[in-house]
Amino acid sequence: MTDSRIPGFYKLDLAARHAELQARFGLSDADLEILSQGAGLTWARADKMVENCIGVFGLPVGLGLNFRVNGVDRVIPMVVEEPSVVAAVSNMARVVREAGGFTGDADPPVMIGQVQVLDSPDPEAAVRALEGARAHILARANAVHPNMAARGAGARDIEVRRFDAPWPMIVLHLLIDCADAMGANAINAMAEGVAPLVEQLTGGRVCLRILSNLADRRCARARCRVPFAMLEGNGFDGEAVALGIETAWKFADVCPYRAATHNKGVMNGIDAVAIATGNDWRSVEAGAHAFAARDGQYRSLTRWTAEDGHLVGEIELPMAVGTVGGSTQVHPTLQVLRKLLAVESAADLGVIMAAVGLAQNMAALRALATEGIQRGHMTLHARSVALAAGAEGELVDRIADDLVQRGEIKLHTAQAILQQLREADA
Ligand code: MEV
Repeated sequence: MTDSRIPGFYKLDLAARHAELQARFGLSDADLEILSQGAGLTWARADKMVENCIGVFGLPVGLGLNFRVNGVDRVIPMVVEEPSVVAAVSNMARVVREAGGFTGDADPPVMIGQVQVLDSPDPEAAVRALEGARAHILARANAVHPNMAARGAGARDIEVRRFDAPWPMIVLHLLIDCADAMGANAINAMAEGVAPLVEQLTGGRVCLRILSNLADRRCARARCRVPFAMLEGNGFDGEAVALGIETAWKFADVCPYRAATHNKGVMNGIDAVAIATGNDWRSVEAGAHAFAARDGQYRSLTRWTAEDGHLVGEIELPMAVGTVGGSTQVHPTLQVLRKLLAVESAADLGVIMAAVGLAQNMAALRALATEGIQRGHMTLHARSVALAAGAEGELVDRIADDLVQRGEIKLHTAQAILQQLREADA
């Protein structure tokens, strides 16, 4: 097991970080070349991925450190443009690691394909007909993707939902085990494949045939339990921090305005991993927010309680992610990042992503409940401003420090400092 703690990693320059990756994870020179030159996705490849392609867009890849999930150390590639996300999640993972790490589990990889039926002359009889033809419908769905069934996956069950308003409508759900794929293509193909049979059985007209992003059969969960003493810092004692986090969670659980921001923080981490693993982050986002509103009110995706001297955190959310298919095979950078994360299955990835979301949320709540997020954010924001002003190398940190000290993190100030430094050097 490769240690997920790499002390001082953030202080190394890029070349030294790459040397660590080579030593610890066996990345080749070619792998590192892909990471360092942004040469992973070539123009020619990108042109095959979307229409009217005009180029390739770069984003930073950070490495989330210190994670231990179900007893296994993990380093987490994260693609994200927002400063402080990677540092914050790594800090919290370190605290949780010292307390034993995250535990988690995931449901079987079952997704829902929806088939909408309108104009059925007798909706009640149509529901009975669909339920009675379960085996026939499943066989028809599985015939669309025989290789899925051969891999032990495929359509497993059906559900029928009936709506009376705004007009009579029946919706057939195909429950499809997607194994290690996210499954969108297979699900949509199966939903389309059963449509003629569904029309025959219901006497109605099939309209939409598409997966549901509310993948609530495919949830992942993560938990952590941290002694109060491990939370102290920045002049706050551990119990005060734990109670502050609990209070912050309660706020999000009753107030949708807060819950939206709270969950945005959760998704800061989860989306970054979704992108770094070639997954459809819009789908994960859609599922998360729909799930957060499942009881009719939009609420927190996490839960934090302070009990028996410990802060206890939990998260549960749909995790429609795969380790095969999609862009995972096409994008060379994804292949390299995969060597770092080294997940065994989609379920495994889902649990890790849930743990990242929980750690990200914990970091945000800890900061919000204590010193506020601005101090940490401003330091990192200052580095972005220094970069934008044209600083390079060690000048970036020098200018950033100067901006923070002046309390004036502005582009024109950074440009002026840069010019002064250059003149002094000249
Ligand atoms: C910023 O990207 C995320 C936070 O706003 C999350 C939160 O408020 O919980 C800090």
